[in-house]
Amino acid sequence: MVLTMAHRFNIKKAELLDSPDRRSFLDPDSILGKLGLEKDMVFADLGCGTGYFSIPASAILRKVYAVDVQQEMLDLLNTRIKKGKLTNIEPVLSDGNSIPLANGSADIIFMANVFHELDDKEHMLAEARRVLSDGKLVIIDWKKIEMDIGPPVSERFSPEEVISICRNNGFEPDVNTEAGPYNYMIVFSLSH
Ligand SMILES: C[S@@+](CC[C@H](N)C(=O)[O-])C[C@H]1O[C@@H](n2cnc3c(N)ncnc32)[C@H](O)[C@@H]1O
Repeated sequence: MVLTMAHRFNIKKAELLDSPDRRSFLDPDSILGKLGLEKDMVFADLGCGTGYFSIPASAILRKVYAVDVQQEMLDLLNTRIKKGKLTNIEPVLSDGNSIPLANGSADIIFMANVFHELDDKEHMLAEARRVLSDGKLVIIDWKKIEMDIGPPVSERFSPEEVISICRNNGFEPDVNTEAGPYNYMIVFSLSH
């Protein structure tokens, strides 16, 4: 396991994570609607940021763990939780080297634009296997093509690269699809 300082998002740009422009190309309700979520499921949003997916997920699900390494992100999320009087989102601060949730405590582990930022992907996938109770891992990330937004292409992973890494670490892809013009979404099950 490689102990590292997790990648951090510039907090001054945090409003970009919940901008109307982003909604036009990556609509959280539409994405979540494709996952076949059921009320009694527990959802872990790893790298939740300001709650772009955690908040709409909380309207569908019994429990959402919103995990992030940046306390500033969780502070912004907490403001939204209080404003919305939401009772089923639990913000969880992580050191970035683990998923600080109990064994088998989640049905879905969801990462939106986070996988490419993980330094020790093998270890984090081992953590995802530990935390999942026979559920699904959902990875949304940037297409590996030049575009005006998002991280440099050199930092991106293609769906094929993500599938290969995840296959080598205990996950099989069920769905590999577009998530708007700039992103893809891959849904994995645990391989047995
Ligand atoms: C690009 S932002 C995306 C936020 C959110 N998923 C969204 O789509 O709006 C990536 C987030 O992942 C967090 N992050 C990066 N590495 C992490 C790790 N190892 N564990 C938990 N959070 C992490 C960052 O702090 C940041 O808030």
